[in-house]
Amino acid sequence: MPDLSVTYMGLKLRNPVIAASSSLSKSLDGVKRLADTGVGAIVLKSMFEEQIMAETEQVASHAQSAWHSEAMEYVQNMGMDLGPRDYLRVIEEAKKAVDTPIIASLNCFSTRWWADYAKKLEVAGADAIELNVSFVISDPRVGCSQVEDQYVSILEKVNDRVELPVAMKIGPMFSSPANIAYRLAGSGAAALVLFNRYYRFDIDLDKMGLVAGNPFSTPDELHLPLRWIGLLAGRIDCDMSATTGIHDWPDAVKMILVGATTVQVCSALYREGLGRATQIIDGISNWMKEKNYPSLEDLCGKLSQLRSADPDRFERLQYIKTFVGIE
Ligand SMILES: Cc1cc2nc3c(=O)[nH]c(=O)nc-3n(C[C@H](O)[C@H](O)[C@H](O)COP(=O)(O)O)c2cc1C
Repeated sequence: MPDLSVTYMGLKLRNPVIAASSSLSKSLDGVKRLADTGVGAIVLKSMFEEQIMAETEQVASHAQSAWHSEAMEYVQNMGMDLGPRDYLRVIEEAKKAVDTPIIASLNCFSTRWWADYAKKLEVAGADAIELNVSFVISDPRVGCSQVEDQYVSILEKVNDRVELPVAMKIGPMFSSPANIAYRLAGSGAAALVLFNRYYRFDIDLDKMGLVAGNPFSTPDELHLPLRWIGLLAGRIDCDMSATTGIHDWPDAVKMILVGATTVQVCSALYREGLGRATQIIDGISNWMKEKNYPSLEDLCGKLSQLRSADPDRFERLQYIKTFVGIE
């Protein structure tokens, strides 16, 4: 059988298929069920500062009238400090229950908590940390470099506090995705997870109001990370993990061919059931066997822009008949 093992962020994984961060990995039970599928690693549901703060404020608001303001502040800080207890317990228990590497995930909105919480994830026993960094900057006066500096600063602060490998999971909305990727890799990211797919809202025309959009991707959404991972492979000094649009084994093979070390699967597990992860792993293995590739090393990046026989296609955006066959 082909060798599917990979080294990702310095961790030895039995195969490159990772269960992406989602509610499927928010509990010990979920982690166990994902581990049973044979995935190479599991990214836990993100621990959200916003969630901890909202819960802390709920407790505080009940006591508001009776308490002195200093006591309130003390309790609020304590809430922020102790709030992640349940999350940390999942890490501790998961590490005892399964031998699949556990990657903890973190999302904060104030600069203060990133490093403190990352340290807690490390102490709880996570094998690595994924920083789910995202901002919606609606103030039109805030420029790109100001926002990008924040990404780098968060990574540096976390890296200063923890020994664990740290991945940055980012979205695609940058004027120069290549530059931010290069900066993050140069600032110590062990991996980039490209690209997160965020919560979307929609509009209900009958109710004349906002409603949640479809939380799940379609296989068509694969093309954006496919292009960028292909462009970046060999040009930045860290691993890349592909996310968004990987629904079956051919999608996974394509991502690896353009240079992803690992692939993360989420929507497909919700839509098709957890068994889809096993199908993807088996599909990669069968394809490699059929094509005589003994190991993933032979495949990874074989069709990246730097190694492709058709490098111009990675940078082509317009439908010009001579080059893409349709106009
Ligand atoms: C219900 C749901 C919850 C998610 N929660 C998180 C999360 O907590 N942290 C995170 O980084 N990504 C989260 N994601 C994003 C996924 O990890 C993944 O990056 C995204 O769905 C794109 O991959 P896909 O096309 O395989 O779904 C979530 C996605 C879904 C559908």
